[in-house]
Amino acid sequence: MCGIVGYVGRSAGRVNTEHKALDVVLEGLRRLEYRGYDSAGIAVVADGAISSRKKSGKLSNLIAELEAHPLPDALTGIGHTRWATHGGPTDLNAHPHLSDGGKLALIHNGIIENFAELKQELVAKGVTFLSETDTEVAAALIGDIYRNQLGGDNASGGLTRAMELACQRLEGAFTLLAVHADQPDVVVAARRNSPLVVGLGEGENFLGSDVSGFIDYTRRAVELGQDQIVTITADTVAITDFFGAPAEGKEYYVNWDPASAEKGGFPSFMEKEIHDQPDAVLQTLLGRSDVDGKLTLDELRIDTELLKSVDKIIVLACGTSAYAGQVAKYAIERWCRIPTEVELSHEFRYRDPIVDANTLIVSISQSGETMDTLMAVRYAKEQGAKTVSICNTNGSTIPRESDAVLYTHAGPEIAVASTKAFLAQIAAAYLLGLYLAQLRGNKFQGEIKDILADLGKIPAKIQQILDNADAIKKLGHDMVDAKSVLFLGRHVGFPVAMEGALKLKELAYIHAEGFAAGELKHGPIALIEEGQPVFVVVPSPRGRDSLHAKVVSNIQEVRARGAKTIVIAEEGDEAVKAYAEHVIYIPETPTLLAPLLSTVPLQIFALALASAKGYDVDQPRNLAKSVTVE
Ligand code: F6R
Repeated sequence: MCGIVGYVGRSAGRVNTEHKALDVVLEGLRRLEYRGYDSAGIAVVADGAISSRKKSGKLSNLIAELEAHPLPDALTGIGHTRWATHGGPTDLNAHPHLSDGGKLALIHNGIIENFAELKQELVAKGVTFLSETDTEVAAALIGDIYRNQLGGDNASGGLTRAMELACQRLEGAFTLLAVHADQPDVVVAARRNSPLVVGLGEGENFLGSDVSGFIDYTRRAVELGQDQIVTITADTVAITDFFGAPAEGKEYYVNWDPASAEKGGFPSFMEKEIHDQPDAVLQTLLGRSDVDGKLTLDELRIDTELLKSVDKIIVLACGTSAYAGQVAKYAIERWCRIPTEVELSHEFRYRDPIVDANTLIVSISQSGETMDTLMAVRYAKEQGAKTVSICNTNGSTIPRESDAVLYTHAGPEIAVASTKAFLAQIAAAYLLGLYLAQLRGNKFQGEIKDILADLGKIPAKIQQILDNADAIKKLGHDMVDAKSVLFLGRHVGFPVAMEGALKLKELAYIHAEGFAAGELKHGPIALIEEGQPVFVVVPSPRGRDSLHAKVVSNIQEVRARGAKTIVIAEEGDEAVKAYAEHVIYIPETPTLLAPLLSTVPLQIFALALASAKGYDVDQPRNLAKSVTVE
């Protein structure tokens, strides 16, 4: 899940370019820092040599290092921001790693699974290693092939050929970017199971883990396929497979506005992204139905007959995205009457799941790169299932490898803790559920139209919550010393409770747990003692099956044991007042859609509490935005 940038510009003698490799690479790293931020490094090729700097800690440490020890001006460079896998976050383990007597520099995202075996082989040849990383082994392997197998002969393919031969031996997941002092105007990259995109410029070309790595310079991008190598110069982009056979990438236009990747005046990306939510939901709903409520999900190119024959849905996702799936399960089963399971991707494929051609796999992933989910989708495909991806990142691996895709249009989510992607995922999953119901005739068109109309009112209701957030912010500040917070919910409120707890754990590093309110009496109620804060997500009193009354009883049960209750309830719900220390009201909405509203105060609370503690809410400790290792 590291961030990777590569750049080759043309010499100023040939074209009037003012871009320096160092500036371009640092800017890319700044935008990609969300992918990992425990160390950063950069290498440039100048004056027939590689010069590199690397530093543990955030990118700012590397920048300070560069100020103290500047790099020479260069037109070719690579840069890396790391999330440690093999070897702790130290200066030595930071990338780039050098080989071939310091003439080759390599950066890497992923895990090389057979690195120990390769290392042994290289050590036997006399290679010495400075770090504990698998990356240094890959660097040494490429360097060894370049120097000893190919004789350092650039006429026979040089660095590109060395990369091909090395990739044939590497196992696992990797994006690799290499530069060599003997080929000063070339960056060679390879990808297997890890993301890499090419940016096409005028007299300059770029590489990035995703398009944010070069969005300031070009919107023209090329998506690379699996097991491909790309060699860029200032004027050319050559793609091959790992055996040197020519291959093609898919060019596309990036319609993200660079400004939308900025904070927009908010103190943090997370706060901005919480405020982006009305638009994220709106954009996700837009253009997907006509005036009669007929859904036309254009990107969902999957045979309608196949969709009609689906007899089971399995939602695969991790973390927040899995909670979105759990919310969607209630709606999909209700609207389509198709049994729907939600499974954590990393648990799925190791338990011999029952999947066949009538199973529809719905993967949910903001990044589209989560390795656990990618592997689970691949496994399901091998078993013959049809796969639909709900994803926020255009051109990322999971949607590319799925049979169909339904993009959430939340815009780039930079803060590590997911907020707007979660609401957009729920909205998209609801569209999918309604589409299946329409196709299979489970709902009349008028009913679908009514639900879509209710969904259409959600953005304004989220805005209303955002405009009246002072009380929940104050609560966050007042609870700065809380040691543990519990969250209860029932029905769709249960995954919301778990998401509320996850946000608090991630941001404020305090113990938090979400429970099904009905489960409390089966054990967890033993946790309640005097003063224990408990959030309760209360369903609408207008909802079905006396659910509201049951949850009100649950509030009373914890309160009777000393809990301090904070209740999220629908406007006009007077019944909860008597049992709550604090009531946070959200606008009226049908029960199934309520998570799109009830989640928002919980996000604001976690943000406020973590901010009051002085924590970095955009980059919480130990986390990375895109988890591209299993
Ligand atoms: C939590 C969070 C994570 C992600 C999870 C899946 O705030 O962001 O739990 O939801 O790592 O990531 P994606 O959706 O990119 O597959």
